Amino acid sequence: MVEPGPESGKISSVQSLRRLEPRPSGPPSGAHAEGPGHSHPGLRTGASGPAVPRRAAADIPVIAHRGASEDVPEHTLAAYEAALLQGADGLECDVRLTADMQLVCVHDRRVNRTSNGRGVVSTLELAQLRQLDFGSWKQPHPDPEGPGAAYVEYPDLRREGAHRVLTLERLLELVVDHPRPVRMAIETKHPTRYAGLVEEHLVALLDRFGLAHPRLGERSPVRVMSFSALSVRRIRRLAPSLETVLLLDRVPLRFRDGSLPRGVSIAGPGVHILRTHPEYVERAHSMGNRVHVWTVDQASDIDLCVELGVDAIISNRPKAVLARLGRDAAAGVGRPAR
Ligand code: G3P
Ligand code: CA
Repeated sequence: MVEPGPESGKISSVQSLRRLEPRPSGPPSGAHAEGPGHSHPGLRTGASGPAVPRRAAADIPVIAHRGASEDVPEHTLAAYEAALLQGADGLECDVRLTADMQLVCVHDRRVNRTSNGRGVVSTLELAQLRQLDFGSWKQPHPDPEGPGAAYVEYPDLRREGAHRVLTLERLLELVVDHPRPVRMAIETKHPTRYAGLVEEHLVALLDRFGLAHPRLGERSPVRVMSFSALSVRRIRRLAPSLETVLLLDRVPLRFRDGSLPRGVSIAGPGVHILRTHPEYVERAHSMGNRVHVWTVDQASDIDLCVELGVDAIISNRPKAVLARLGRDAAAGVGRPAR
């Protein structure tokens, strides 16, 4: 059963985005390419701070969407291990609460697509989910250079247990135990029967790892994302110093100037928005907001993100993106700090 209501859509009040009119007194193209915190005369600054500098290609963090999910079944431990082996700077995951209040990494409301079981995640207990195989639905591609190549390169990914349901707790362990810094982009999925309990359990779990309340001047490696503005507000209330991302599959009229809700400093547009409205990135930057773009898999989209100087690329193909950005994926050469 799904609760209708304020969280029942990916921003319910949006209108379709028409081409943004050029700002009458906007900066020249590339004007905010100088450096972090640099002040630019004539640039508006939003509530979030000064204009955000435009990033060079090698400085754009690459975030593995559901793990290295083109190669390896999404949201499995194997998918995330593959992403880290390939050199991803960060990991994206979706979280849902089980019937016994455990946060698990599953995208869909049901397990039907990505496991050999059936049913709604929120009605199943973790022990029931653990019986399921989350790997066999995705057949490795026979081409060693194609999807599935990660299994050829890293045979250990096939080991027992690497394709069972993944709890967020286990994923956080992977992140904190990794020898290099890894960012996490955690998406709360709505609508859900558990509404605000998702955010409460999420912040409590992050707190157990010391990741929920970074001190002044510090930044948690975790940011929480949602299409639901209400969910983002809840996170802001529970963990005010945690970074939040408002995901956008359309840009609501009130945010077309690049602004975001109070306290949110990262916009998460789908790459389809930037294809038709590339000016959105500069607008968000000029308002002091960063732009993390999903799901960027095609070469032309990667190039577009580089051209626009976005602040993170979220991709099912982290290895391919790293290569296109001119970074040696395995060695992590040029890996951005954030
Ligand atoms: O990273 C954001 C992106 O994951 C949102 O879409 O449906 O893949 O969760 P979805
Ligand atoms: Ca997601």
